[in-house]
Amino acid sequence: MAGPGLWFSLLLAAALAGRAAALWPWPQYIQTSESHYAIFPYNFQFRYHASSAAQPGCSVLDEAFQRYRDLLFSSSWWQPPERTRKQHAPEKSSLVILVSTPGCNELPSLESGENYTLTINDDHCFLLSETVWGALRGLETFSQLVWRSPEGTFFINKTEIEDFPRFPHRGLLLDTSRHYLPLTSILDTLDVMAYNKFNVFHWHLVDDSSFPYDSFTFPELTRKGSYDPATHIYTAQDVKEVIEYARLRGIRVLAEFDTPGHTLSWGPGAPGLLTPCYSGSHPTGTFGPVNPILNSTYEFMSAFFLEVSSVFPDFYLHLGGDEVDFTCWKSNPDIQSFMKKQGFGNDFKQLESFYVQTLLNIVSAYDKGYVVWQEVFDNKVKVRPDTIIQVWREETPVRYTKEMELITGAGFRALLSAPWYLNHIAYGPDWREVYMVEPLDFKGSPQQKALVIGGEACMWGEYVDSTNLAPRLWPRAGAVAERLWSSELVTSVDFAFKRLTRFRCELLRRGVQAQPLSVGYCEQEFEET
Ligand SMILES: *[C@@H]1O[C@H](CO)[C@@H](O)[C@H](O)[C@H]1NC(C)=O
Ligand SMILES: *[C@@H]1O[C@H](CO)[C@@H](O)[C@H](O)[C@H]1NC(C)=O
Ligand SMILES: *[C@@H]1O[C@H](CO)[C@@H](O)[C@H](O)[C@H]1NC(C)=O
Repeated sequence: MAGPGLWFSLLLAAALAGRAAALWPWPQYIQTSESHYAIFPYNFQFRYHASSAAQPGCSVLDEAFQRYRDLLFSSSWWQPPERTRKQHAPEKSSLVILVSTPGCNELPSLESGENYTLTINDDHCFLLSETVWGALRGLETFSQLVWRSPEGTFFINKTEIEDFPRFPHRGLLLDTSRHYLPLTSILDTLDVMAYNKFNVFHWHLVDDSSFPYDSFTFPELTRKGSYDPATHIYTAQDVKEVIEYARLRGIRVLAEFDTPGHTLSWGPGAPGLLTPCYSGSHPTGTFGPVNPILNSTYEFMSAFFLEVSSVFPDFYLHLGGDEVDFTCWKSNPDIQSFMKKQGFGNDFKQLESFYVQTLLNIVSAYDKGYVVWQEVFDNKVKVRPDTIIQVWREETPVRYTKEMELITGAGFRALLSAPWYLNHIAYGPDWREVYMVEPLDFKGSPQQKALVIGGEACMWGEYVDSTNLAPRLWPRAGAVAERLWSSELVTSVDFAFKRLTRFRCELLRRGVQAQPLSVGYCEQEFEET
């Protein structure tokens, strides 16, 4: 087989000519041709191969077949072509799926394979994958290959695709604290994530502003810390629904409970948890980060994270650890004397380390792995060697490329987010900068580069709620999705622009309020009605 470079240039030429399918993200290896086959909705079906490990009853695939049927042939854009019309193309009446390992009832994990092979030729219309997750990715690609002639007939071209993700962790962060996002906004986002082959939903559940996560161990947290405990919370049932909805789309849910900073909303429901701030020798009545010097704090965290560890089944939890403001700790006389006793001097990073280390020990005892924001590394907190560090700061304390070098140099796995804060917006085609980021563009050995497991697009919620979430995310987050899925050779902004423009029209057709990339219009057949 030819190397990726050759394959790529061949197909690039092929796809740029003619009516390119709106493939997004671009597959690793693809060969297409102008020969094509007709597809008729009334007799087309997805079928399991007789020797597939997944068979009817496999919820992940059964439901995906239904979804893709609806997406492909939804009545809103399908008017049956005239039956009498003469078809010059041979017909394909099914896509046959062969999954080689069972796993329909499992959860996707960081280690899950997502490879698939899609073959559409005279003899076959065939999707092969090792896992059901790979089959989901292949079904999405299949759905993007189908096109419709002006007369209304569906076609798919002769195509050979071998595809796999470049990075195993391709995440999107939503912040449900600054603004509450209704369950439907989260579920809708999961759908579009799957269209983009994202596979991790990083759920930043709580923060200073509100505590919508309804804890059964500490119900007062939501009762007193949510915007409205009747309407603006996520019940246990909601959380279950999100996790299952995500699973059915091959998406992991990475829950974040950020401490010791960003915790003001925890205060009212957990008296004594936060540090009282002082002015001189008097408490001011305001509170700072979690109080790291009390045993009761760790008893609380043990009970809270015991619950969280069982509610969120993914192996990883995100423990936050960013932007701890030391002002309040500095003002508190009890903390000052604790610092003296511990021999921390005036170094509040050591106090932060003391807290974070104790918390990490608690969480590791629950057999969980953890992701933390980069400050935990920057402040030299001792963490387990298998900790994942998420890089979010563009310039401080060093440029993010340097930070990636330092983190991987110390042997830790890294996730990149610094250049992918999509809540930042600018006039013009700002998706390009996002697209042009090369995650491995830092000084380091091949072993260091191998420690980069992927990255995440972040959508912080200060200025985002359900009214503007979708247009702000899509198609901009798609730029991150392709960077994390496709080959490092896929860097042409012009090629991306053409495909992303078409993909955006396809998103509109699928009911997503994706914003335009530039001047222009979507062809009639893609317009939402
Ligand atoms: C698919 O086939 C059509 C019709 O022959 C052709 O116009 C188009 O360029 C082909 N698309 C690709 C991606 O090869
Ligand atoms: C998936 O594809 C990658 C890249 O070609 C390869 O290294 C890996 O072995 C493949 N995995 C499976 C299960 O085929
Ligand atoms: C906190 O716990 C430690 C270890 O169990 C114990 O030695 C210490 O006396 C406790 N402190 C308080 C204030 O209860």
